[in-house]
Amino acid sequence: MTGREGGRVLGGRGNYNAAAVATPDPNTSVSEGTTSADHAEVVERIRRTPAGNNATPPSPAIAPGAEEIDARRTAEEIGERGIDPRIPALVPGFDAPFFQAGLAGYSDAAMRIVARRHGCPFCVTEALLDRTLLAGGRGFDKADLGELHDNIPGGPEDHPLAGQIMGSEPGEMAAAALKMVEQRARTDREYRVMALGENPAGDRGPRQHLRLPGGKQVGFWPPEEEDEGLLEAQGCEAFVEAQERMAGSEEDGAGRGGWGGRGFEVIDVNLACPVKKIERKARGGHWLTEPEGAIRILEAVREAVPGHIACAVKLRRAFDDTPEMAENFERIFDAAYRIGYAWTTVHARTVQQKYLGPSRWTFLRDLVSRHPGRIVFGSGDIWRVEDIFRMIRYTGVHAVSVARGCIGNPWIFRQAREMMAGRAPSVPTLEEQRQALLTHFHLSLAVTRRWRQSEDATSRMMRKFGIKFAQHHPRAEEVRLRMIAVSSAADWHAVLDEFYGGA
Ligand SMILES: Cc1cc2nc3c(=O)[nH]c(=O)nc-3n(C[C@H](O)[C@H](O)[C@H](O)COP(=O)(O)O)c2cc1C
Repeated sequence: MTGREGGRVLGGRGNYNAAAVATPDPNTSVSEGTTSADHAEVVERIRRTPAGNNATPPSPAIAPGAEEIDARRTAEEIGERGIDPRIPALVPGFDAPFFQAGLAGYSDAAMRIVARRHGCPFCVTEALLDRTLLAGGRGFDKADLGELHDNIPGGPEDHPLAGQIMGSEPGEMAAAALKMVEQRARTDREYRVMALGENPAGDRGPRQHLRLPGGKQVGFWPPEEEDEGLLEAQGCEAFVEAQERMAGSEEDGAGRGGWGGRGFEVIDVNLACPVKKIERKARGGHWLTEPEGAIRILEAVREAVPGHIACAVKLRRAFDDTPEMAENFERIFDAAYRIGYAWTTVHARTVQQKYLGPSRWTFLRDLVSRHPGRIVFGSGDIWRVEDIFRMIRYTGVHAVSVARGCIGNPWIFRQAREMMAGRAPSVPTLEEQRQALLTHFHLSLAVTRRWRQSEDATSRMMRKFGIKFAQHHPRAEEVRLRMIAVSSAADWHAVLDEFYGGA
């Protein structure tokens, strides 16, 4: 299977495209009553089937010897030992060593809540461009990543949650991060003024500026010395005020609510996405070619975000495989902890690789062994529940980011908890599959309720999930084809009725 079906791209946006999540389909599938051994066989078949187009097949990571690790025994040991206590101390509720990754075009509040109901202890939003955030979600038609409505916490159940941001300017990243944690407590213009100065809508010239609490100036880009005095005049003190209001808000709850309540427990800076440069400015993974700029962003965001909220950073293992890029990674990685970042999540592919080819768990193993005191999370090639425990045992990472392996497969989280409790991972029954699809659909309707003809639009949006859910069904290929053909709410309900036992 490829990411294109009938000429239409199924799901995903921009550089995080659906092809990247496409997996070959099994010719057979798991049904109610099958054993987990049957299930493992199906998953193995998925892993072995070659992918078409530029899709990444579920391939084993580069991890010689990992296949010999007894995932069951490892899971049990981890269950007995528990998660590294520093993690729930930083983020209450993060109580198991795995979480749902940021997945642009997928990991909205609906997907996150479905994952949580299946045992996922922590989620990350998709990457949101700082400018999209500062623009209030409007006026950035070309923004090729997350939408605001996908990133707003989905009510009390959608916690603990990391809000992920990505961008090019330290000042804008800092203001965007603050806007996220404050849940838009002030006007959009105020945040823009923090980032861009008094004339945020007008010609703001080639440079940005920002002064943060404590008077330290960060975020001049590119740096020049002469305009120190300009800062005062241009309203950057608003950040100081913002900080004061946040400090107050811990007591009186002010400053949380513009987007409907509890904010984010973590701000996650994306220095990993293989997104293209715009106007020759780095963002996402391109920052791995410009470590100074990356470090400025990390500093600006950490200073803007109130101390009680953890900051984390998502990295690739390098931009490419040259020694210079390996060095850049080390510099950014070291700086992150020095600046006060709680953890890094390292995707063990290069930016150049995008999502192709195996991730390199050997890299993670070496990294963790060289920095035993640091909290490191691992990402890359987590396709089935056993991979979670194999990655932990093989690399020593403190938690595992589950990405493509959980699209249409929230049961991976339930299975992980079962294995940690010493039980065999259970296969979803048909009724459980139906319930998960329905729940996902109804939650998605809540996310999209302001869309025009939201039920039809949501049904079409659900195709990309439906084709992934289909792989659990006894008639996987038939279901997949029917999911692809969904173009209205009526079609969606018809597939559910026909294949999942009706209402
Ligand atoms: C469609 C798609 C969208 C993604 N969006 C994000 C994102 O918004 N933020 C992020 O940190 N990582 C994103 N990633 C990267 C994943 O979180 C993960 O690091 C990567 O897929 C490697 O893990 P895997 O091989 O187990 O899928 C995305 C990946 C894909 C395939």
